[in-house]
Amino acid sequence: MRKVLIPHAKIIKRVKKLALEIKKEYKNEPFLMLGVLNGSYMFASDLSKELWKHGFTNFSVDFIGVASYGKEKTSSQSPKFTKRLQVVLKDKNVLLVEDIVDTGFSIKEILKYLKSKNPKSVKICSLLSKSTRRKVTVEIDFLGFEIEDKWVEGYGMDTAEFGRGNGNIVEVIPEAFRRK
Ligand code: IMP
Ligand code: MG
Repeated sequence: MRKVLIPHAKIIKRVKKLALEIKKEYKNEPFLMLGVLNGSYMFASDLSKELWKHGFTNFSVDFIGVASYGKEKTSSQSPKFTKRLQVVLKDKNVLLVEDIVDTGFSIKEILKYLKSKNPKSVKICSLLSKSTRRKVTVEIDFLGFEIEDKWVEGYGMDTAEFGRGNGNIVEVIPEAFRRK
């Protein structure tokens, strides 16, 4: 069973506010918006459009691919890079765009990897955070919504690779987890 947790209109309203916060932070400094695939594709897309609408155009966009859960529901603690970095980060401002920070293992590994490339700065923008499940400390600079310990899908996020196209963020009730 699926229940709407955050409807599309509410997401978009929040994304607009995040774009304004990001614009205020970077002022006229250029940055690289680096989305974490696959989950952040929709969020990164809307965020980039909102920034542009609000007159901030000084950014490039790229993605890295990380698979943290595979088909399992529990974090593997060591995410696999499925798409490596294609751009040089040295002396660049990087805005890492994530779908969810859950235990924090994935983002911590990604940060370690990015910092080894000597960027000028790295900031984190995450649509969701389940802070009650955190195992390692993560500082999120721009956060969409704090949510309870529930499995969610939609707006780019999946359950075993399905459900990403839903414009709403929905809560997945466990029986429905084993999608046939
Ligand atoms: P972490 O390493 O435990 O922080 O896992 C973070 C990653 O797991 C996120 O970037 C998501 O891709 C995925 N994830 C965590 N919770 C959920 C969820 O409720 N639905 C879908 N994906 C999730
Ligand atoms: Mg993710």
